[in-house]
Amino acid sequence: MKPVSYRDRALSMDGVDLSSIAAKAGTPCYVYSAAAILENFHAYDVAFENHPHTVCYAVKANGNLVVLRLLAGAGSGFDIVSGGELYRVLKAGGDPAKIVFSGVGKTAAEIDAALSAGIGFFNCESEPELALIDSLAHRRGVKARVALRVNPDVEAETHHHISTGRLAHKFGVDIGGAEGVYERARPLENLALEGVSCHIGSQLMNPRPVMDAVDRVMALIETLRARGFCINHADFGGGLGVEYKPDDAAPAIGEFVAALRARVAGKNLHVMIEPGRSIVGGAGVLLTRVLYRKNTGGKEFVIADAAMTDLIRPALYDAYHEILPVRENGRGKMIADVVGPVCETGDFLARGREITEVLPGDLLAIHTAGAYGFVQSSTYNGRPRAAEVLVENGSWRVIRKRETYEDLIRGEE
Ligand code: LLP
Repeated sequence: MKPVSYRDRALSMDGVDLSSIAAKAGTPCYVYSAAAILENFHAYDVAFENHPHTVCYAVKANGNLVVLRLLAGAGSGFDIVSGGELYRVLKAGGDPAKIVFSGVGKTAAEIDAALSAGIGFFNCESEPELALIDSLAHRRGVKARVALRVNPDVEAETHHHISTGRLAHKFGVDIGGAEGVYERARPLENLALEGVSCHIGSQLMNPRPVMDAVDRVMALIETLRARGFCINHADFGGGLGVEYKPDDAAPAIGEFVAALRARVAGKNLHVMIEPGRSIVGGAGVLLTRVLYRKNTGGKEFVIADAAMTDLIRPALYDAYHEILPVRENGRGKMIADVVGPVCETGDFLARGREITEVLPGDLLAIHTAGAYGFVQSSTYNGRPRAAEVLVENGSWRVIRKRETYEDLIRGEE
């Protein structure tokens, strides 16, 4: 389901007029559909059928407390990568037992906070990290359940900044050496070595590399079991792509999970996955108002009030986000760079893009902005961060206030 569509020439989300939200909440402003988020979560959950599983939503994609609370209420677990994300999930009422802690550089304080909260699993990325978790668990008199994150050495076929599964990447340990790592960790008495995890990259439009990784992990699990390790969990990470361009074709969540399920059926394994983008990406838009038009250097510029500080994906990954006018205006098309007010040439939302002709004052909706949008925003150039809004049951509310100038200087002397 696409939550955003035109009704009487006006763009609406789940029946709620986006221009009325912009008029009251101001711009730039992120708007998310609760229904779409829940639909995507359920698509994962239902597709596992009766295979034991936990869908651990990747908090990094969109960590707003209300979004987390929505997912916690639906039974979601959470994939976290920092103490800050742990704090958010606990504040949102997430079940600690369904939290998995990933990340290549966990600090002692973060590990200790996670042990104190009683999280479900640590996805460990190195031998020194295993040793640290063991010693901190010892001090607390607990046993930490851990999975080693292995690097299956597959090519994820995505942007090089968000591909993580090759040996040259900083993540995990080489799958070829994993057996040795488990053996060396065997004597660590405060670790329960019960799992194996992997994550090969993000925005994957082809599920085949993930399935290759699953096959490699399953082979490792067989070997580890033969060596007497009680491996009862496998975490296959996140990564499923979403449709940014009109002609993109992302794998369907149900089919993806079915292919995964077929590979783990009858293997006596609790399966975890960590989807982020595919749950929230398509569920959000960024609303921005056109400030100016100008033509310079033979190029047409649309200057909007949203910048790279609000949505950095185009600048950082050359990402494409569909841009549509919130009111269908019957004007023709134009080719323009849609840019923000920030003093950087790299501050753009689209370059050389064919869009409907727009004029100052018009509202634009930047599509598929629910994932890695607000969370990657900054206050560079003295720009307070945008408001976030949730559309739910036919109405809307602000779920994060627009930042103020006071917020910008908080903590400064
Ligand atoms: N699990 C781990 C260990 C991860 O590193 C990630 C994403 C996920 C799960 C969730 O992946 P997803 O299902 O969302 O693809 N900022 C970039 C994306 C970075 C992804 C980092 N890791 C972007 O805007 O495209």
